Amino acid sequence: MQLISTIEELRVRLKNESAIAFVPTMGNLHQGHLDLMLKAREHGRSVVASLFVNPLQFGPNEDFAQYPRTLEADCAKLQGLVDVVFAPSINEMYPLQQTVFIELPPVACELCGAARPGHFRGMATVVLKLLNIVQPQVALFGKKDYQQLHLIRQLVTQLNLPVNITGCETVRAEDGLALSSRNQYLTEAERNEAAFLYQTLQHLRQQIVQGERNFALMQQRAVDALTRRGWLVDYMSVRNQSDLQAAQADQTELVILAAARLGKTRLLDNIELSIG
Ligand code: PAF
Repeated sequence: MQLISTIEELRVRLKNESAIAFVPTMGNLHQGHLDLMLKAREHGRSVVASLFVNPLQFGPNEDFAQYPRTLEADCAKLQGLVDVVFAPSINEMYPLQQTVFIELPPVACELCGAARPGHFRGMATVVLKLLNIVQPQVALFGKKDYQQLHLIRQLVTQLNLPVNITGCETVRAEDGLALSSRNQYLTEAERNEAAFLYQTLQHLRQQIVQGERNFALMQQRAVDALTRRGWLVDYMSVRNQSDLQAAQADQTELVILAAARLGKTRLLDNIELSIG
């Protein structure tokens, strides 16, 4: 496994590779990331992972400064799983002030985009840069960041990028909590509570499967239940899978998306469902 920090060196290393599978990350790797690396191996002869905490996707009051940077530990976890780790500096990725951005579809301003203005613009811009730098045939992303995955698919399709985007299932702890680098911010008490978000999503799914279609009422009840237990809910929303618009009663491929804060930690989760 080779650790590379410059674009020039990476391009030389990858020049003759014909089938690259790429997993972009912000580091602080957990089992969810490692699963993506394992899946990547099924897709490409060479696997490249990037570790880069992208300043452009953090708002002024967010955790960019505190975001855990664990290069050495990450490289140890990636040993044997990937061929190349690309870990550029901020200056390598943004040698000029970034004034060119990706303009995303309106749904980027909803859900996480409403709570984190500019987040998806910064995310899409760095993903496009990374895809241009690595030029993979396949890039893999976790479904936990469902809206992110949707927007990356739009980016790639609408800008005709020659890469296949593969979404991979969310990896969960035993109690159902979706794995995330931010879980480590949780106190012990918060960690014990955290799986309630997934339980709430499962409960909503169950109601829909049983025929309930008053999505607004269901969402409000779920928000109330979380709020009573001390959560600060950003959103709880039943959406259509393909365009992430609010679900209609006759649609069958749905996703329930949630973001909520426990103390200082913002947790994200979602559940897909198909109804016959
Ligand atoms: O999901 C992430 O870790 C980041 O948003 C990504 C896709 C690596 C872009 O910085």
